[in-house]
Amino acid sequence: MRILIVGSGGREHALAWQLARHGHELWCAPGNAGTAGNVEIDILDSRALADFCVRERVDLAIAGPEAPLVAGLADDFAARGLRLFGPTAAAARLEGDKAFAKRLMASAGIPTAEFAVFEEFDAARDYLRGRRFPLVVKAAGLAAGKGVIVCPARADAERALTQMMRSQTFGPAGLKVVIEEFLDGEEVSIIGLCDGRTVRCLAPSQDHKRLLDGDEGPNTGGMGAYAPAPAATAEVRQAVDEQVFQPLLAELAREGLEYRGVIYAGLMLTARGLRVLEFNCRFGDPEAQVVLPLLESDLGELCLACIEGRLGEVELHGSGRHALCVVLASGGYPDVIRRGLPITGDLVGGDDVVVFHAGTKRDGDRVVTSGGRVLGVTGIGDSLSEARDRAYAAVAGIEFEGRQFRTDIGRRGLAHSGG
Ligand code: AMP
Ligand code: GLY
Repeated sequence: MRILIVGSGGREHALAWQLARHGHELWCAPGNAGTAGNVEIDILDSRALADFCVRERVDLAIAGPEAPLVAGLADDFAARGLRLFGPTAAAARLEGDKAFAKRLMASAGIPTAEFAVFEEFDAARDYLRGRRFPLVVKAAGLAAGKGVIVCPARADAERALTQMMRSQTFGPAGLKVVIEEFLDGEEVSIIGLCDGRTVRCLAPSQDHKRLLDGDEGPNTGGMGAYAPAPAATAEVRQAVDEQVFQPLLAELAREGLEYRGVIYAGLMLTARGLRVLEFNCRFGDPEAQVVLPLLESDLGELCLACIEGRLGEVELHGSGRHALCVVLASGGYPDVIRRGLPITGDLVGGDDVVVFHAGTKRDGDRVVTSGGRVLGVTGIGDSLSEARDRAYAAVAGIEFEGRQFRTDIGRRGLAHSGG
């Protein structure tokens, strides 16, 4: 097929890499220094993206990030008779509006943290009185992964509310807030493909959101991931299907919505059972950089089956191997970073190592940094420890000024497997 990938991060490079293995002809808008067929089109310009697909006779477009989907990319493509893999704007509210997602979970009986939704500052502040802390305050709208604040005490929660609802640090995304119970446990990401009725899951994975080893430091977009995550046992995966995905699809249907695209459930495995932290309407980043290398089936065919409502007839095969990705981030990330620094070393990889580009661009014959997360180095192996050793061996050969990375990616998974 002729396929256009929308986006420019490590996830999009991983999508391109998986699709290239199956012989598809690819474009990436706008892509990065690791992707081929880059075209300079703004990911929010749905008309220009659709025009490109018509002109180049593209068979399938795949949206990487959430923003274009929440803005209606799938609707605009459908209106022009073009195939795009991703939910409509109404269904993508599952990610784009946390208040919508929480209410839907509550009516569907999906296990999630107890919560309340507020659109008025005074009411939100009053609610904090007499609550137990820590509590979590979340901007309801899209805030680039930064709109979740864990508040150890009431003063912290009041500050978070002021930031979101009064100072509008997150813009309109923070005018509505969700305040919820703090959950303790191990996090796992379950990424499924959905055609509206059937969900087929990729390998369960675990992200590492904090900047520093030992889960210290500020939250980031994700500093590394591995799959499969042993915390997601067969029992957990069955519970996710029965207690999360099936009731979710039924509830969406009651709302008159059909969900076609990636459905990502971020879970907390607590002592009292699993709880859904969030839904996303896209592949995770860096989770994609570990789950896609373990997918043997052709992702392009799977996406098409989702769009055409026949995923139930298609098998999804995994390799049965293990993958671990270490993110190399710019100095200063997740705050202010420098760009344009030359990157040296093996920026491609080999049989069991893939270097996924994220914030990179070409500058003459050099590759330079151009974003917070620069590269995701994925090692693949027959065990998690083999995958880890391959990833870190490759990381050691890549340099750029100020580079930061975690040295303990996979720690929890290795502890489970006795490694
Ligand atoms: P979210 O975007 O809602 O998934 O939140 C981002 C991150 O914040 C999650 O991956 C968790 O690490 C953390 N988080 C979110 N909600 C909670 C909660 N209720 N309790 C504890 N941590 C949470
Ligand atoms: N790595 C978390 C996410 O993509 O939402």
